[in-house]
Parts: sequence; C-alpha cells; structure tokens
Amino acid sequence: MPDSYDAAYREWQADPTGYWEAPAAALAWDQRWDRVFDPASGPCGRWFVGGRLNVTYNCLDRHVEAGHGDRVALIWDSAMVGEVRHYTYAALRDRVARVAGALAARGIGVGDRVIIYMPMVPEAVIAMLACARLGAVHSVVFGGFAPPELAARLADAKPKAMIFASCGLEPGRVVAYQPLVEAAFALSPHQPQFCLVFQRPTLPAPLREGRDVDYVEAEAAAAPHPCVPVAATDPLYILYTSGTTGKPKGVVRDCGGYAVALHHSMGMIYGVGAGDVYWCASDVGWVVGHSYIVYGPLLAGCTSVMYEGKPVGTPDAGAFWRVIAQHRPRVLFTAPTAIRAIKQQDPEGAHMQRHDLSSLEALYVAGERCDPPTAVWAAETLGVPVVDHWWQTETGWPVTAGFRGFGLTPPKPGAGGRASPGYDVRALDDNGKPLPRGESGNLAIRLPLPPGFAPTLWQNDDGFRAAYLADFPGWYRTGDAGMVDDDGDVWIMGRTDDIINTAGHRLSTGAMEEVLAAHRDVAECAVIGVRDALKGQVPLGLVVLKAGVNRPAEEVVAELVALVRERIGPVASFKDARVVARLPKTRSGKILRGSIRRIADGEDAPVPATIEDPAALEEMRALLG
Ligand code: COA
Ligand code: AMP
Repeated sequence: MPDSYDAAYREWQADPTGYWEAPAAALAWDQRWDRVFDPASGPCGRWFVGGRLNVTYNCLDRHVEAGHGDRVALIWDSAMVGEVRHYTYAALRDRVARVAGALAARGIGVGDRVIIYMPMVPEAVIAMLACARLGAVHSVVFGGFAPPELAARLADAKPKAMIFASCGLEPGRVVAYQPLVEAAFALSPHQPQFCLVFQRPTLPAPLREGRDVDYVEAEAAAAPHPCVPVAATDPLYILYTSGTTGKPKGVVRDCGGYAVALHHSMGMIYGVGAGDVYWCASDVGWVVGHSYIVYGPLLAGCTSVMYEGKPVGTPDAGAFWRVIAQHRPRVLFTAPTAIRAIKQQDPEGAHMQRHDLSSLEALYVAGERCDPPTAVWAAETLGVPVVDHWWQTETGWPVTAGFRGFGLTPPKPGAGGRASPGYDVRALDDNGKPLPRGESGNLAIRLPLPPGFAPTLWQNDDGFRAAYLADFPGWYRTGDAGMVDDDGDVWIMGRTDDIINTAGHRLSTGAMEEVLAAHRDVAECAVIGVRDALKGQVPLGLVVLKAGVNRPAEEVVAELVALVRERIGPVASFKDARVVARLPKTRSGKILRGSIRRIADGEDAPVPATIEDPAALEEMRALLG
C-alpha cells in the first residue's frame, strides 16, 4: 500500500481499474478474473469479470486454514439481556457451515433469496454468512420496519426462505416478530417455502406446522456445508433502502468487488488489520452493519464487536464506554446521533472517566452529517480524532473519509473528509457541469464506480439508470448537496431529494406522504424533515383536511401518527403533524416543501417568484416560524 493518501489517490487516478488488482490479490479466489473491469456490462460496468470466489470462505475458512481458528471473530455483547459471548473463527465457521447445511437440505442454493428479519443477535450474522456460503442472496430487513415494508421486500425479492427471530428487545418493550411476519405474509403476493425461526428465551414464538422450523434444532441436525464458489459478479445480497417514493429500492451488492473494496478499506480507512478489535455500533439491518459489523472486519481477520443495546438508557450514557473498556476496540464507528444522545445526558463526559478507554484510537461517524459541536465535543472529551466519513447504501463503503492507514490528516469538523481512492467526487451545477472548488452543487461521482458499489437494483437495471445515471450523463448522482473545498475535503450539507436522515436512518418523506394521503380525511399533505437536536432531522406532517371534515385536529393527528407507525414502522419517528388550511404551492401546483422546511428550521425563506399565493407561505411562517 502507498505510504500517503496523496500517493494512493494519484496511483488510483493513474490507473482507476488496474489499481484494484493488488487489493484483489489479497483475497482467496477459486478462479482469477479475466478482466478487472468490464464497462459494458450492466448499467455501470462489472468488476472482476470471470473471477470466482466465496465471500464466507474469505471471511472465515481462509483465516481458520491459515492457523487463526482460535482468534476471536465475533464478540456479542447484549446490554438488553446482560450477556457476552465470544466466537472464535473456528466456532463461527462451524456454526455457519451447519446453518448453511440446514438451508441446503431444504433446497436453498446459488441465487436463491433468503430474507433475514432479526435483531442484533449472533444468529443474524451466522444466517447472513450461511447464505453467502451457499451463494444464496440474503436480504436483511431492519427490525424497526412494519409489516407493509416487510411485505414490499417479500414481493420484490421473492425469497425461497425466511429466517426470523421470535422477538427483538427495545428498551421497555419486547417486539414480537412473529405477528409482524404473519401480517407481512398476509399482505405479500409472495410467500417463502419455509422459515427458520430463532427462538429467544424472552418471548418464543409458536411455530407454524409445515412452514416453520426451529433454527437451533435445524442447525444441530444439519451436516456442515462447504463453501460454494460463485461468480465475482453474482449478487451477495439485496438491501432495500428508501427511495423518493413509497417503494423501496433493492440495492444489489456483488461478491467480488465488495469483498475487495471492504478488505482494502479496513486497513486504508480505519487502520486496522488481523487480530485488531473493531467495533461498529450500528445494526445489521443497515448497510453500515452489513459492511462493518459483518463482512469488512471478518474479511480483514479482525475481532468484530456486535452490540445489542443503545448508547443511552441501557442502562445509562456510559453504555458505549463500558463496552470499550470490556472489549478494547481500537476503533469505534457509530452515528452522530448516538454521540449527541450521550452528550445530552452526560455533557461533562463523567461516564467516560469511569472507564478505561485507552484502547480507543479513533471514533468514526457516518449516517448523517456530524454537526461540528458534536464532533468537537467528542474529540475533546474522548481525546481521540473524530473522523466523519460519507457513504450510502448504494456505495457500500465510504466515498469520503479520513485515512488512518495513511496517517490521518487532522479532520475538519463538519466536513466528510477526502475522496477514497476509487472515487472522483465533484459538485455539479444543475446542468451537470463541474463547479469550481468551494462552490456548492449536486454532489456526483464520476464513472466508473469503484468495486463494492452497487452494480444495479434488483432486477431493475432501468431503475438504476433512471435513479442515478440519467440526470448527469457520465456521473452517478448521489442525491446529496455539498461542495469540495480547496484542500479536497468534501462537505455534505443535505439531500437534494425527498429523503431525510432521522437518527442516522434513511427515510423517505414521499413514503410518509403516501401514508398520510391514504387517510380518509386528508385532502393533501406534505412531509418535511425538520432539524432536531438529538436525531438530526425528524419528519413533520402538514395536512389539509377534506372539505366538510369537522373532527378535532388532535384526533386526526393521533390517527396519522399511528398510521405511519403501522405502515412504515416505529423507525420513521413520525410523531408530529399539523392540520393547516392550505399548503404553499407554485403556480404549477408543486408544494413548496423546501420553503416550508427552511421556515421550520428558522432559516431565511424568501417568497419564490413562482408562488401561487404568497399568503399561504405567510401562514406557514406564523405556524412554524
Ligand atoms: N426494532 C424495533 N423497533 C426499533 C428498532 C428495532 N431494531 N430500532 C429502533 N426501533 C424503534 C425504537 O424503539 C423507537 O420506538 P418508539 O417510538 O416506541 O420509542 C423508534 O423505533 C425510533 O427509534 P430511534 O430513532 O432509534 O430512537 P430511539 O429513541 O429509540 O433512540 C438513539 C435514540 C439516539 C439512542 C438511537 O437512535 C441510536 O442509537 N441511533 C444510532 C443509529 C445508528 O446506529 N444508525 C445506523 C447508521 S450508522
Ligand atoms: P444510507 O443509505 O442509509 O447510508 O444513507 C445515506 C445518506 O445518509 C447519504 O446520502 C447522506 O445524505 C447521509 N449521510 C451518510 N453519511 C453522511 C456523512 N458522513 N455526512 C453527511 N451525510 C451523510
């Protein structure tokens, strides 16, 4: 690896495809690739064409065969049940091989989809790796989604099997998964052939005869299954994420490019390698969890910490520091919201003083912009660099970052760091013309996109082209707005579309509007993301009731809040809606969501020239300003 960031970036610029040969050679391949990159394949090219490998082999068996079977691969720490478990690479390999055997015995093979709906338990990681061992395609669904969201994923992915847990554990609440699964099955036109059910002692689920099989019993009865080599271009997983409509996007990840990019990123970005303890405090239901709880650290031979709990309340704002003292990670990666939650409850960092945090060398944050006061507070109280890095479900790994592998340059609070080798990031004007440094515009990535980046959407190449490639030919449109400064640091300032980030979770306001519009009393509505001191942004609904509806506004609002929770899930954090007489619109009928948001955030919101009725905007100012 080059010894400086600039040297590495220049090396990549000089040969954007050849650069990846050396990182690829660090993995085990069953067959070497014929072409590093084929630009003509798929909507934006394919990596390592002709190559064959197995990702689970690279995550587990490779390390065991190299004599590291006794090294700890996974530490599960549950603040919810007060339990800690350690799995060595050999033990994890054995469990994964048996679960793969249980799936194979029931007909799961290369290319079959398996939906995984599980909380933060090791069996979720084991299920993912078992699918990958067989060349089956997993699709993990975050536990905070409601049945219609699960049903949409069932309908699109058409899984042959589903693996779910009997319950998830939220502070003060046991989330029974089985009723949610049954409700989703009732809504979905597609049903899986069988389910593996992981029974948690807190709340076991009744098994449905002929469909449900006990996960642990099936595992115990199965023969270990070997790794099945698949094409580098075969899908490893589908991860659904919010688009601008109610229909989630099925982001596809391939096997070869992803494994290469993640393995490379562990050393280059986080500065960790084999034998190091690394902790990503996310959830396996998000891309961050896929890449940096499961695949990245295991590919690199690290010990990955998997934490079931919250940053606060389980039991207090010292929860993260207790985990660090106990398991001694060198790096922690979390969402800025988690740090804000800790800072709110423990502004002096008193909990930090009580724990030995000497193992920690850096804090990485992503999922939403890290506001400078939070970054500065964390850096000062923890005494380690706070590195903001920017990425998306689609990218699979960081577009911009600080690079510990090259000796970290001092991070700039509020900026997302510099482009990773593999990414040419520019701000474009609305016509797709690159803007000079320092000017804000649409952040875009020049093609070709690097290994690990989503090659397409599930069975929807045209959807991929339309969503990401059509607006600015030759570029991937990120949907984020921002600028690149004179040093090359990228500032990500917000979305240019109807997506908001709530507590580091990506949500579609369009999807919430669809839910509100379905209420019998609602004539029209808008959902905007407004600034929130804890969660960054939270959704706010504005509804106009149908003529003749005379019910109390609070009653309708309570129903709308319940409806969003029921249709999208608690993760939407939709708690506030207001009944208004009208919504400000342009003369062509477009709701002025941007102006409403600026008013709600206390920003300057000049009256646009295209407005239909300026008084409607003044009413918003009176209501929200
Ligand atoms: N299963 C079921 N419900 C879930 C869930 C899950 N896996 N995860 C969250 N929820 C629920 C929560 O219980 C909450 O429900 P409530 O409305 O009944 O209180 C709701 O969804 C909203 O959750 P969240 O936005 O996470 O807020 P919170 O108040 O529970 O916790 C924080 C606040 C800051 C502690 C929490 O948001 C957090 O840890 N954020 C970090 C996010 C993160 O790691 N993101 C990954 C990207 S890096
Ligand atoms: P997701 O696909 O859920 O990872 O969400 C991706 C979106 O989160 C991005 O498009 C950004 O809007 C936002 N995001 C992620 N990381 C950052 C960051 N470091 N700074 C600013 N925004 C971020």
